[in-house]
Amino acid sequence: MARIDMLVKLFMGFVYVNVILGYVESSYSGVTGYHDAIRRMALFKAAHIIRNGAPQPQSYSTPLVVSRSRVLHVTDYGADPTGRLDSTEALEQAISDAFGSPVDAHLMEGIADLGGTEIHLDGGTYKISRPLRLPKTSGGNFMIHGGSLHASNNFPMDRHLIELWPSSASLSYEYITLKDLMINSNFRGGGISIINSLRTIIDNCYISHFTTNGILIQDGHETYIRNSFIGQHINIGGDHREKDFSGIGINIMGNDNAVTDVVIFSASIGVMVSGQANVLTGVHCYNKATALGGTGIYVKAPGLTQTRIMNCYFDFTGIVAEDPVQLHITGSFFLGNAFVLIKSLAGVVCGVNIVDNMFSGDYTGVEIVQLEQSNVPFTNIDQVIVDRNNVRGMVLKSTVARGSVSSNGTTWTVDFSRVLLFPNLIKNVQYTLHAGATFPNHVLRNISKNCVTVESNVPVSATLHVSVDQSMVGYI
Ligand SMILES: *[C@@H]1O[C@H](CO)[C@@H](O)[C@H](O)[C@H]1NC(C)=O
Ligand SMILES: *[C@@H]1O[C@H](CO)[C@@H](O)[C@H](O)[C@H]1NC(C)=O
Repeated sequence: MARIDMLVKLFMGFVYVNVILGYVESSYSGVTGYHDAIRRMALFKAAHIIRNGAPQPQSYSTPLVVSRSRVLHVTDYGADPTGRLDSTEALEQAISDAFGSPVDAHLMEGIADLGGTEIHLDGGTYKISRPLRLPKTSGGNFMIHGGSLHASNNFPMDRHLIELWPSSASLSYEYITLKDLMINSNFRGGGISIINSLRTIIDNCYISHFTTNGILIQDGHETYIRNSFIGQHINIGGDHREKDFSGIGINIMGNDNAVTDVVIFSASIGVMVSGQANVLTGVHCYNKATALGGTGIYVKAPGLTQTRIMNCYFDFTGIVAEDPVQLHITGSFFLGNAFVLIKSLAGVVCGVNIVDNMFSGDYTGVEIVQLEQSNVPFTNIDQVIVDRNNVRGMVLKSTVARGSVSSNGTTWTVDFSRVLLFPNLIKNVQYTLHAGATFPNHVLRNISKNCVTVESNVPVSATLHVSVDQSMVGYI
């Protein structure tokens, strides 16, 4: 009973209560028994209450709350969704209107809350001849989504189609979402720039035909790029133009950003990282093969890197890191001789983990981790761990190694020079001389050039077991 009473009360909130009651009545006609009796009673009660002057539903002409939709359709502003006519002004006007009606709230100090206002592109394609630079007035809690933008043939070469670029040094934009957008830079400049902005989201975007950056992040904080496809030329690999691919897919010149589940399919550099505390997860780079001069992820924050690269896929293109200090590369797959190159500028490599990755190559002798020391050799090497990578068709390099050698004599030498990453560096050795029935005196004689030599006082037939470590910090 109670439940049916409640339903009846709910029905009363609708203007078409009688229609619904009529439907209920007819659909149950013919049903007999207890439940039927209860339904009939409820219907009777409802009809009775209405006849006896229960509060009538609000008429549509006088809504309880006077509200205006915060979804602004660009076609209402005269934008041409066929992409033939220039829609720059219409789009600018829609954005300007969105920024013109903030709600009475704030995000970060000085940033107006636009109350979730959306610029809806109505699934159209719009030609624009100027960057859609967000207004000078501050704003946040705002979204542009649902359509395509195409740069016109006179779009400025040094700009981006959408720009979050405050006109002053102060923070102006926070929690702005760019979503479900196809952005075509028409080989004139870049796709999206996020400058000195807070908590920006780029989600499900397809950015192509850029000459500079697909996405540029400069200063600011916490731009999250996810589920997006970025490439200069549209291809699925092995493209005949690959040697000429240029530009940068995502250029991160700031801190605390995240790139998650993104494919970079054409660019000279897939992701350039020159700030700290950025995290890249699930990034698939086949932007330009190493053999053709490309780089998947270029970590250019020498001396203070603090970058995590996890569960990524390097497809014929690898990682370059300059003087890395705190760099973590793990769970990633390197295909087609892709490798990690550590480049010396001032000879610094500290706190680097390259662990638990898979490498696959074509058996032409490419090493999985390489050092570029043409400027200066690495001299400041500390806590570098290259270990537990599995390798097929490439040359394994590591900072820890184990080996054995058997012979009859007074010296035993295990040569680790092929496997150890750093030449002539062993920070820690442990050895066992397994000498059968004899008891010779023996000593660790030499660890120079990554060769470990043990010597005994008398000739014996024995096996030497050694483990070495280039990363061990045996001193404080
Ligand atoms: C080791 O070499 C010595 C001579 O150099 C020989 O007398 C001895 O039998 C050898 N031991 C074994 C186990 O081969
Ligand atoms: C250690 O080995 C290097 C060459 O590998 C050699 O130049 C050096 O003299 C050796 N040192 C000793 C104490 O035998």
